[in-house]
Amino acid sequence: MSILITGGAGYIGAHIVRLLQERGERVVVVDDLSGGDARRVAGAPVVRVDLASDGARAALRAVIAEHRVTSIVHFAARKQVGESVAHPEAYFRDNVSSLAAVVGAAADTGVARFVFSSSAAVYGTPAASPVSETAPPSPINPYGETKLAGEWLMRDAATAYGLDAISLRYFNVAGAGWDDLGDPAPLNLVTIAIDRIRQGLAPVILGDDYDTPDGTGVRDYIHVLDLAEAHLHALAAVGEERGRHRVYNVGTGRGSSVREVLDRLEEAARSGLEPIVEPRRPGDPPAVVADPELIAEELGWRATRSLDDMVASAWRASEHRAQTVR
Ligand code: UD1
Repeated sequence: MSILITGGAGYIGAHIVRLLQERGERVVVVDDLSGGDARRVAGAPVVRVDLASDGARAALRAVIAEHRVTSIVHFAARKQVGESVAHPEAYFRDNVSSLAAVVGAAADTGVARFVFSSSAAVYGTPAASPVSETAPPSPINPYGETKLAGEWLMRDAATAYGLDAISLRYFNVAGAGWDDLGDPAPLNLVTIAIDRIRQGLAPVILGDDYDTPDGTGVRDYIHVLDLAEAHLHALAAVGEERGRHRVYNVGTGRGSSVREVLDRLEEAARSGLEPIVEPRRPGDPPAVVADPELIAEELGWRATRSLDDMVASAWRASEHRAQTVR
């Protein structure tokens, strides 16, 4: 019996793989290795499959049979908002069609336990913050649309094929659970700021004139290890009721401003570089914070790690990467 992790060689997926391995679970990773790195999941079988290809569903059926898969966690996806605006076709193909192949293979083989990586991007610009799962989804870019479409597919597949599925809406994920598993891609505040500091450049604050306590944008930053643990709770909670699909926010319920994040980062990095302020990035909401109560009540999961832990661990992972790459 094993757990299939698509996108398991990626930043978030590799954390879940390692946590599961530490708990003695068997895992099998399916990844096209376009963004992932097989070295992150040493010890786990990695099967290279392009989930958007014609043969994906059959290839997955074979993996499920060979490894006696009983649960699936689907991470494999693209996640860059700007890129999704420029290339919506690629996002619908890789985030929705690929999910359809995985869901189809689950239906073909009778695998009912399914956890899907969704995103707070489904909320778009929430009317109120903290935002709860009852807020109407209203994505403002193709990336968010593909995640919402993915949730709809999970809901419909649960009904049609008797899955017991959970979609987890991630807020702003950062940090590293292990030094070798940091996020190498400078695509969000923490990783962009680290990347700049490592080049001797000051981090950038995109707007300090928001209606927030210090004028900078507020987000709900969640430690990747807390997020990984939320998946363990989700995996434990699926399988008993066929035809069910549940959706949960995965955040801390605490908002942190860009300035706070950069202050914490400077404590770790000691770069002496003062952040510089640039104009707002178009489309950025002032504040997006999760209401995390539903998952606490129903699955018994809460985030426990601090912003300090998160930012310091991200910095340590970047040091580790700099040493190993050289
Ligand atoms: C990102 C995604 C969003 C997703 C969310 C949670 C983008 C554009 N959006 O949101 O779809 O739902 O994660 O997964 O990728 N900032 C700076 N300086 C920088 C970079 C960012 O000040 O160099 C600020 C932004 O203005 C924002 C905050 O930092 O206030 C966080 O930005 P970012 O890490 O890009 O994530 P979000 O835009 O919140």
